[in-house]
Amino acid sequence: MNRLQDKVGLVTGAGSGIGRSAALALAQEGAKVVVADIVTEGGEETVKIIRETGGQAIFVKTDVTQEQQVEAMVQAAMDNFGKLDCAFNNAGMDGDTASLTSCSQELFDKVINLNLRAVWLCMKYEIQAMKKQRKGSIVNTSSVAGLTGLGGNPGYVASKHGVLGLTRMAALENARRGIRVNAICPAAIATPMVKGLLEKNPEMEPFVIGMQPMGRLGEPKEIADAVVWLCSDESSFVTGHPLPLDGGMMAQ
Ligand SMILES: NC(=O)c1ccc[n+]([C@@H]2O[C@H](COP(=O)([O-])OP(=O)(O)OC[C@H]3O[C@@H](n4cnc5c(N)ncnc54)[C@H](O)[C@@H]3O)[C@@H](O)[C@H]2O)c1
Repeated sequence: MNRLQDKVGLVTGAGSGIGRSAALALAQEGAKVVVADIVTEGGEETVKIIRETGGQAIFVKTDVTQEQQVEAMVQAAMDNFGKLDCAFNNAGMDGDTASLTSCSQELFDKVINLNLRAVWLCMKYEIQAMKKQRKGSIVNTSSVAGLTGLGGNPGYVASKHGVLGLTRMAALENARRGIRVNAICPAAIATPMVKGLLEKNPEMEPFVIGMQPMGRLGEPKEIADAVVWLCSDESSFVTGHPLPLDGGMMAQ
């Protein structure tokens, strides 16, 4: 319960799904948490749950695609808690289903802007903060769609592959500065994003579950537990690593 005692963590997209679950898990392990999300209601609800269970958290309304807001988000960690030890860059979207040829330029750019460019923007300011203490751990959210080609969403697959490239680059650039950078690669997890997709396209459910050898969706808490480990000193020799969290999918 105290693997992150005295640490300060930041989670983007913390108002829902995987991000909320990770913010709660970081707080449960003793971290003070900056809860960042573009949606005020979800972010404030996450903070409320953390405080009700005895943890410390603040909400910082942030659109992670906007550089000034990202800078202010990291500054809020420094102003309120004095430092930044770990950051989970997780805000993302799936975007509408489209083939490579039917995907519009607008849709492709929108998904890349949030899922990839914003991860770079977040790391840009987080690493500047972490450099001051020569220690830190960053976790970026990729996907199994960052490890292999999946049909139906070219911007998503490209963005999640891109996140792994950025993660490796950032890990190498900061390996001797005490800052570790890793990525998680979840398969289908039971969050509002996936539940919404399956509600819209019920015929997809057996296909999605069938791709995961364990025969079920993952739970947000199963992702959050891995994020806690990557943020903690227990993973002190791990950097530049893409960690599949996929019920065996990538073993096929
Ligand atoms: N759920 C899955 O099966 C799955 C699988 C692989 C990867 N992922 C990735 O996990 C991450 C979280 O997904 P989720 O399923 O929890 O989704 P979700 O929709 O439940 O949560 C996403 C959160 O991001 C926030 N957000 C959206 N745009 C934002 C912006 N511009 N600035 C700040 N916050 C913003 C939303 O308000 C929401 O709270 C995403 O990057 C997604 O691609 C999810």
